[in-house]
Amino acid sequence: MQEQLVDLQNQAKNDLAKAKSLKEIEEVRTSYLGRKGALNNIMKRIPGLSPEQKALIGKLANKLKVEIDRDVEEAIKRLDLTSEVPLVMKGEKTTAQDTGGVFDLTLPGKRKPYGHLHPITQTINEIKRIFCMLGFAVEYGPEVEQEYYNFDALNVPQEHPSREDFDTFYLDNKLLLRSQTSTVQIRIMEKKKPPVRMIAPGKVFRPDTVDARHASMFHQIEGLMVDEEVSFRDLKFVLTSFSEIYFGQDIKMRFRPSFFPFTEPSAEVDISCSICNAKGCSVCSYSGWVEVLGAGMVDPNVFEAVGYDPEKYTGFAFGLGVERLTMLRYGIDDIRLFFENDIRFLSQF
Ligand code: DAH
Repeated sequence: MQEQLVDLQNQAKNDLAKAKSLKEIEEVRTSYLGRKGALNNIMKRIPGLSPEQKALIGKLANKLKVEIDRDVEEAIKRLDLTSEVPLVMKGEKTTAQDTGGVFDLTLPGKRKPYGHLHPITQTINEIKRIFCMLGFAVEYGPEVEQEYYNFDALNVPQEHPSREDFDTFYLDNKLLLRSQTSTVQIRIMEKKKPPVRMIAPGKVFRPDTVDARHASMFHQIEGLMVDEEVSFRDLKFVLTSFSEIYFGQDIKMRFRPSFFPFTEPSAEVDISCSICNAKGCSVCSYSGWVEVLGAGMVDPNVFEAVGYDPEKYTGFAFGLGVERLTMLRYGIDDIRLFFENDIRFLSQF
């Protein structure tokens, strides 16, 4: 039996020398030291031995166990663990089981990729920053809104097409999902006396058929400035300054006469197409210009609705589309990309 034990130790050494991975080393270890392993098979025979033999073999067996354990440790040290350990970034597991029962403290931790803000949130943050520099406060209003704030107080007549069911999401009790952030102008003017200088970013909702340019939810930023002697000149200055900071000095801006119920006079504002340098492309419909916002001088009826004296105060308002600005800046041609949550798209920003 003594000889058997010595043989066992030599065999174990040989087997360990041949083992090339943690898994193989572990297999060798269990074949000798495991519950059904070779050493245990010998130990089982100990009870039938004479007392002296028992003591001798018992001692030897214990020594053997310690030595095989030590050989196992050494065999592991000889392995090149860097190639042995599964690479964390490949998404494989690194539990003690996977590494053959060994927990290697020196392994790098599981690294999770950093996230970042959604491109739309980034644009909103940047626009907020620019208007804050121009002295505007940031205000917010509810997305579920009363008809009064979305239409009536904004001088939108009952028969206006935007009030139709197919242009606005109606809820019960004269509530609706706001179709514009102009609602926030009214809420702020109700609460504050002039001077007012604010922007209001937020989501708006319209039952449009979804396509490359339309989504049923998108983001707007409303702007409002009211004081004594505010003129169209101030509107032009503020919007031109914004455009120069957001798009750069080379971008031109133009004002086209237009109509909005809450402003008079009103304008639609275009910038020279940043995608094609105003040479003409599909984004600007080969005109060299892209519409980015609506604006105008606040209609006296709106001031009356909020209790401001239209003889004393004047003001301008504007509303811009956040998705549109983001698309122009990065040359994105489909609004749906913002809402599909596709990491391959989002990770580019
Ligand atoms: N609320 C308008 C819209 O959703 C945008 C707008 C145009 C806002 C002109 C304004 C404005 O404040 O003066 O289309």
